[in-house]
Amino acid sequence: PSVHSERDRVIATLPTGDSVEVLTYGATVVSWKSNGKENLWLSSAAKLDGSKPVRGGIPVVFPCFGPPPKDHATGKLPQHGFARNSTWEYMGKSSSESGKLASGGDDAVTMDFGLSTQQLSDEARQAWSYKFDLIYSVTLGRDGLQTMLRVQNKGSESFEFQMLLHTYFKVDNVSKTQINGLGSTSYSDKVLNASEQTQTDPTIRINGEVDRVYKSIKQNTTSILQDGQPQLDVIRDNLEDTVVWNPWIEKAKSMADFEPNDGYKNMVCVEVGAVNGWQKLDPGDTFEGGQIVKSHL
Ligand code: BG6
Repeated sequence: PSVHSERDRVIATLPTGDSVEVLTYGATVVSWKSNGKENLWLSSAAKLDGSKPVRGGIPVVFPCFGPPPKDHATGKLPQHGFARNSTWEYMGKSSSESGKLASGGDDAVTMDFGLSTQQLSDEARQAWSYKFDLIYSVTLGRDGLQTMLRVQNKGSESFEFQMLLHTYFKVDNVSKTQINGLGSTSYSDKVLNASEQTQTDPTIRINGEVDRVYKSIKQNTTSILQDGQPQLDVIRDNLEDTVVWNPWIEKAKSMADFEPNDGYKNMVCVEVGAVNGWQKLDPGDTFEGGQIVKSHL
């Protein structure tokens, strides 16, 4: 595999032509191609210059998901925390012995990105002053893409966090997209402002604004189908929650960086995370969670 870094991004390519592109801003994966096809949706108006979190790709959400509760230690942080709008350090590539995708030889490559307390803006550090290290490992393999976030507490007091990988998947036609693997799961519906809902239909179809937080999911795989055909499998690793989001017509229009306006027809966010309550991390301890995504196309 070849890896080359530019001023603001790192690009890995396999001999097959499959590739992944990661900005150091937010460690945001902005492109993942397999079999000549782009798997991620990226707004044509997304800011890639570090002025705003990227609208599309895979923004990393840490240490809070959504607007943080005011009475929590994350209460002064912006929606979805600081990881997606901080500049990470590219720490280099490694061969993928440790990855869970096809390993060995030329089959896979991992790029590691780091973010720790010292790299935060003064504003973020003042709002959340814990000492931490994040390592985000992006592995491209013949089988797919793996993205894993490792959180370490480097301080002398415990802290609580949430994390989520806010993946925007590209689909041909969201009205013909089905999402399987979340049946019989309880969720809160952020559109209806209703918690404790239960997903009775094993298949989710999208024909309006959807913003749901599925919790404590038993099965690890969520599948995305297009026109009844399997397109992508999203496999949770040490994470139990998944958000399904599509802004639909009005919400898409209201976001200045969401373009084209009807782009909601070509995307769905399936976001793996630990967002149900808080993960407590004691001094010196490490938490690791992430996803493997496999494309069937
Ligand atoms: C989703 C949330 O994860 O992210 C939605 O569930 C939110 O409520 C969406 O609208 C986008 O958030 P942002 O901050 O990137 O506009």
